[in-house]
This record gives sequence, structure tokens and C-alpha cells, in this order.
Amino acid sequence: MKYRHSFHAGNFADVHKHVTLVALMQALQRKAKGLLYVDTHAGSGFYELSREGSAAAEWRSGIGRLRDVQEGVAAPEIAAYLDTLGALDRRLGGRGGYPGSPLIAGQLLRTQDRGVAFERQAKEAAALRMTAAPMPRLRVEAGDGFQGLRAVLPPPERRSLVLVDPPYEESTADFARVTTALDDALQRFETGVLMVWYPIKQQRETAAWRATLEAHIVRPLLHAELRLYAADSRASLNGSGLVIVNPPYLLAERMREWLPALYAQLAVDARGGVTVREREARTGTR
Ligand SMILES: C[S@@+](CC[C@H](N)C(=O)[O-])C[C@H]1O[C@@H](n2cnc3c(N)ncnc32)[C@H](O)[C@@H]1O
Repeated sequence: MKYRHSFHAGNFADVHKHVTLVALMQALQRKAKGLLYVDTHAGSGFYELSREGSAAAEWRSGIGRLRDVQEGVAAPEIAAYLDTLGALDRRLGGRGGYPGSPLIAGQLLRTQDRGVAFERQAKEAAALRMTAAPMPRLRVEAGDGFQGLRAVLPPPERRSLVLVDPPYEESTADFARVTTALDDALQRFETGVLMVWYPIKQQRETAAWRATLEAHIVRPLLHAELRLYAADSRASLNGSGLVIVNPPYLLAERMREWLPALYAQLAVDARGGVTVREREARTGTR
């Protein structure tokens, strides 16, 4: 497996995913009771942001853009994400760069919370373990995150937030694995909050997968997309999608404000857009 998240770190999809991650974590932390955070595909946790060539500079149209307009950030969720990045950077000694999901979530863990991050590539897992050393509440496991997820659910805390963020290198297989993993996770713990990221390249393909996923799941869902390019564009990534199962109360309502605000700051031309769509629980046992 050759996937290197460093090429994509801080791009618009990372920004979309991580603003949502911070918003979800903070929504769940309105209750004092501890929670378990699980990152099934963690990555190395920290990425230098290259100043060179276009392929290595995806971050410029993501976090680079957002930082430029920081002064004007109106939505509290976007501000909370930027504040979290700032606090994390200070905690890591002011290295700059861009953090990955396990460190962003790790930064937000309270003393009553804990986190487990799975990463299959041994080198990346070792790098994450080193960077996460100042975060004793975050455990790093080198191994398969789909299998690992089965081992940690249901959590003794009876509250959890799981991020499923595979590389989609073998996209058909990864989409199928995600469907199976969500199904299994909900059988083990039906009220856990799950967030899945997916790439939007060919919109028809992703829409078909989403329809299958939604048919499998009876729990409430929130589907959110941030598209920078038209569906038929040849850009390697036209949009970033998230499916959130068991979304916290008012998340969708808030997202209808901050996602368009985020889009306004990242938009390339007028052919992109956003979607925020809720689906109520369907009748059934799961
Ligand atoms: C998209 S990156 C993760 C980015 C990270 N979640 C973030 O937002 O910063 C995907 C990572 O999953 C790892 N990976 C691929 N298959 C895996 C598996 N079955 N279990 C755990 N990690 C896996 C890859 O090595 C890669 O580092």
C-alpha cells in the first residue's frame, strides 16, 4: 500500500472533515460523561506543508485559504476548528505543518475521555505514536482499523465517536468495507456516533454507494457534502462527502449555517456547492 496522506494533508477535504470532527466532538462534550473516540484510519498524525510544486500543495486551496481569511470567519464551528489547530500547534511546540484527525481529536479529549487510533502502516503508526506522546489519553495501535473497531465496541463508557476515513485506493473494495464496518459497528453499539468520509470523483458512483449504505442503516443519518468542482469535472477530487450516523441534536441545523460559510471561503468557481440532508431513523431494530 502506497497511500501517502502527506500529499493531501490540509486540502479542502481535510478541512471539511476536520471542521466537522471538531463540531461533533464539541457537541458530544456538552455532556460531562466520558466518551471513546476511535480513528480507524489514523495516518501519521502530522504533516509538513510543502512550499513547492502544485501536486504537493493541495493545502493551499484548503487550510491555506481559510487561514488567509481568518479575520472574517463568522461561523463559531469554523473558529473552533482554527482555535483547536492553534492550541495543538502550541502544544506540539510551534512546528507549523498540519495535524491529522487523531491529533485534532486527541487535542479535544477531556480527562474523562479516551481515544484509540488504528493505522495499518507500521511506519506511520510509529510516527503517530511519537507525535501523540504528549496525549496520554490517546492510544495508538498499529493494525487494521476495521478489525480494531470490532474489538473496541461497545465501549464501557456507552458513548463513542468513530471516524472511518479509508484511503479509497481500491475504491470499490473500500466502499464495500465501509458498509460492512458500519453495519457491524451498529450491531455492537447502536447509539454510537459514526462519521465516514468519502471522496466525490464520479458523483454517480458515490450516489449509488450512498444509497446502498442508507438502505443498510436504520439509525438516523446526516449526509453532508462540500463540492468545489462540478460533478463532471476532471479534477482528481471534485468534492468531499461525509455520512454521520446518529448525529447529535442540532448538528444539522448548525451545519446549514457553517457549511455554506466554509464553502464561501473555499469556493473555486460557481459550479460547486454544499448539501446537508438529514434522514430520520427508519423503523426497524437497528
Ligand atoms: C486518508 S488517510 C487518514 C487521514 C486521517 N484520518 C486524517 O484525517 O488526518 C488513510 C490512512 O489509512 C491507512 N490505512 C489504510 N488501510 C488501513 C486499514 N485497513 N486499517 C488502518 N489503517 C489503514 C493508510 O495507511 C493511511 O495512513
